[in-house]
Amino acid sequence: MKKAVSLGLGAIIVLVLLLAGCGTEGAVNENEDQNEGEQVTASDGEDRTYAYDADPMDYEPIEPHKDLDQEPVPVKQERIGENEVNIEMTAQITDIEIAPGIEYKTWNFNGEVPGPLLVVQEGDWINFTLHNMDPAIPHSMDFHAVHTDPMTGFADVEPNESGTFRFQASSPGVFMNHCATDPVLSHIANGMHGVIIVMPADGFPTDDEVDREFVIVQNEWYKYNDLENMMNMPPRQVVFSAKTLEYMDDNEVDGYTFDGRNSNGTVTAISEDDPETVLYAKPGERIRMYINNVGPNEVASFHVIGSIMEDVYLDGNPENHLQGMQTVGLPASGGAVVEFVLKEEGSYSFVTHQFDHVSKGGVGTIIVNESGEPDGGSMMSH
Ligand code: CU
Ligand code: CU
Repeated sequence: MKKAVSLGLGAIIVLVLLLAGCGTEGAVNENEDQNEGEQVTASDGEDRTYAYDADPMDYEPIEPHKDLDQEPVPVKQERIGENEVNIEMTAQITDIEIAPGIEYKTWNFNGEVPGPLLVVQEGDWINFTLHNMDPAIPHSMDFHAVHTDPMTGFADVEPNESGTFRFQASSPGVFMNHCATDPVLSHIANGMHGVIIVMPADGFPTDDEVDREFVIVQNEWYKYNDLENMMNMPPRQVVFSAKTLEYMDDNEVDGYTFDGRNSNGTVTAISEDDPETVLYAKPGERIRMYINNVGPNEVASFHVIGSIMEDVYLDGNPENHLQGMQTVGLPASGGAVVEFVLKEEGSYSFVTHQFDHVSKGGVGTIIVNESGEPDGGSMMSH
């Protein structure tokens, strides 16, 4: 990344060193209580703790972020030519509720975790700018959709500075993007990840059959900014989010309209528990999902309960066409386009078929009803 703005560097380095000290100190002796959450008394009289009740913020935010809860800065995506797009994103610090009543002081892009969805067309040139609003820590952006020298393209952007680089999205796919600043695990696990879809120039062979499209991202949460915990312990929460293009200036720019709900990586984000954010479809409609597992550590086993995925394009490349799949494996950072039909009315869950992760939040729901809308849609048509 090229530096666009320059500020005093000395003070920043001192701050970062202080921070590094904080992080290490906090990590010691904190491992045993990995699953410590709110104790509840079960019907058999035993005290139990549910995994996703574990509060990652059970120790203090690092000093320079302590009173920080930055308003989300909307992403900018603007097509400026037939094959040229400007994208501007912001690294920032924002509180996000990751499970009912549990806030996490996330490091993120544009106030969302996962970050805002980006969609471009195969062959597009992208002029990318990253602003860093974090007052203390450098951040960066690594797009898996790119062929570039990482030392240059994915270089750190210092606090209160901006950086740019230009790349061509030459391969189609559902790609992860993430902060690549050292230690990468902390930056991803604290929330700096997202998805960029590069649409194939010639489309997918099943484009004409699709009725509804959703974008679903899976990620994990660990103890806040605790590298030891992130390295050595299972996740505390595993969550699905739905992502839309709501910040796109004009959906007609690319012609994409994803019928999703924009949610953050929250335990109930797209579950039955929340009628506002759950997904809807009509019986017999063909549903396409662009899915990605941003990790940072776990693999995912994407499965729709009560259906079979008729067509699957691994990593979102039309050349990788598979059919009739019960479960699609997603390595950390892996993506796919999956298509299926929910034939009967009902409530269909999609999960990662690793059920320890389901019990930590890794589940979403599609409600299939006659109208394909909330409340059966009948109220809305009056
Ligand atoms: Cu970062
Ligand atoms: Cu990566």
